[in-house]
Amino acid sequence: MFARLISADVPPPPCVQIETTTRCNLRCIMCPKGTNGETMGDLSASTLENLGGLIDNAWEIRAHGFGETFLNRDFEKILRRCGDGQATISIVTNGTLIDERRAHLLIDAGVETIYVSIDAADPELFRVIRKTSLKKIVDNLLRLQMMKLERRTPYPRIVMQMVGMSNNIHDLPGMIRLTASVGSNELNLVAFTEFDMETVHSLKLRSLLDCPDEARRWLAESQVVADELGVHLDVAHVYRELMPPPREVHAPALVRPGPLALVRKAFAHALSGDFAGLLAGIDRKARLGVTRAGSVLRHAIEWGVPTAPARDGAAATLSALRPAPRLGPSPKVRCTDPWNAVMINYKGEVNPCCMSQRVLGNVNDSTFEAIWDGDVYRGFREQLLSDEPPPECRNCAKAGWHHPFELDDWIEVGVNDAFGVQLGTGWCEAILNGVRWTREQALLRLRNSGKRRLRLELASWEDPRYGLERRGSVRVNEVRVGDFEVASRNATQFTYDLPPSDASELVVRLVSDWTDTPGDAIDVRRLGVGFRSAALVE
Ligand SMILES: C[S@@+](CC[C@H](N)C(=O)[O-])C[C@H]1O[C@@H](n2cnc3c(N)ncnc32)[C@H](O)[C@@H]1O
Ligand code: SF4
Repeated sequence: MFARLISADVPPPPCVQIETTTRCNLRCIMCPKGTNGETMGDLSASTLENLGGLIDNAWEIRAHGFGETFLNRDFEKILRRCGDGQATISIVTNGTLIDERRAHLLIDAGVETIYVSIDAADPELFRVIRKTSLKKIVDNLLRLQMMKLERRTPYPRIVMQMVGMSNNIHDLPGMIRLTASVGSNELNLVAFTEFDMETVHSLKLRSLLDCPDEARRWLAESQVVADELGVHLDVAHVYRELMPPPREVHAPALVRPGPLALVRKAFAHALSGDFAGLLAGIDRKARLGVTRAGSVLRHAIEWGVPTAPARDGAAATLSALRPAPRLGPSPKVRCTDPWNAVMINYKGEVNPCCMSQRVLGNVNDSTFEAIWDGDVYRGFREQLLSDEPPPECRNCAKAGWHHPFELDDWIEVGVNDAFGVQLGTGWCEAILNGVRWTREQALLRLRNSGKRRLRLELASWEDPRYGLERRGSVRVNEVRVGDFEVASRNATQFTYDLPPSDASELVVRLVSDWTDTPGDAIDVRRLGVGFRSAALVE
């Protein structure tokens, strides 16, 4: 079995990251760019051509690397070529270059998400960190939002991204307000990676793990603001222990949708989809008291557009998803990237992921398929599954070095969710916002430690056309223990009393009633409920 994993032909990867450029127009103080002697350059159109089937087969393309992606002179060509296939496309950008022409390009190419890096809402602090003007970036985002409104599309979604450091954490509540005010409802707080210790020390840059008390205080306050404004605050895995515990619900008491969700629902019914209806909807929303300009803008964008997402490719390419390998008894790494993902750098070199600089081939010298199937790639996969994985993998945030493949009485997305081992059937590959998505039904397995209650952290996925609410039931070893109802992207904790059981293993089945599948429009990867963690307690 183990040997077969390494020797078997691996179908081309569904997830592709393309480093469009290493050049940048900013010099942010926390960014390692330019400090490690890397060469500067752009991905060329001819290298892109050499990728061929890789782009056509992918279901997710990240068109960016460690530079400012819009600086690539052929970016328009690259984006349009990526848009020819069926993949969802995302980029990370500093937002400085999104003028009207590029905003049209993002919409035309069907880009699903842009992650906009803004590390402070206070213009002065922003200037200290990013050494440029915040106002210009905010203006760019508002223009893009207005253009989406005019062109009646919710895409690209804007997700704000902030590096969480000791010098900016006090501005997190402000960042949440800024997120809402530009009509976005997602903010990622990413972990600060220390790079060059001399620079880090001279600038007094520190991770939140180095100032935990202060971080806890600001994270708690920020969560309150986020709940109030309907912004989903997604916190890097390593920072999650600093977060206040999620709201707890003892099942079968159900969470009722909040007032904002009800307003949204009313709007979903009220809007007929034409522009006049859309404006009437905004008026009506204002009458209902939802007056914040950003949230009106956001809802106008979301609810005014009853059309299908720009890209439904994921549904069509579901067959590309494959379970991660079931591993043998000893391996200690749970990363599945070498089977599912690839990074192409600007020189055409093939790296196994964005963490590893290891060159496994170059698409300008041979076909991607030959590299993917070749001895070097196979050797890398083999080493990853061995007891001595590649050094770069040992430092990667994805690596779980504490027996991730043994069943435990708890499981958390991003910690010990060894895909295909503790999780049974019914899960999608993608982890978004720290949750993993279930299909209509999904199984997970826990070691029975004899504790009497099961605690689940569940969230909902917001679909612009169908709202937030997801309901369903929970069974343990096929005995129904209760129900859940979620109406928030922020995880809610549910606890269930467990019937006594001598079984060594508890099989938890989540059954979502979210079976209303219009087929052509919905992303079937995210059909059920968002799952963050499960644990046996007390
Ligand atoms: C390197 S940038 C490249 C894309 C683009 N130039 C930008 O700033 O968004 C990708 C992401 O890494 C983040 N980043 C920069 N320095 C970092 C560090 N030391 N630790 C963690 N993330 C960092 C940026 O804020 C950005 O969100
Ligand atoms: S804009 Fe992005 S790549 Fe450029 S210096 Fe800042 S974080 Fe680094």
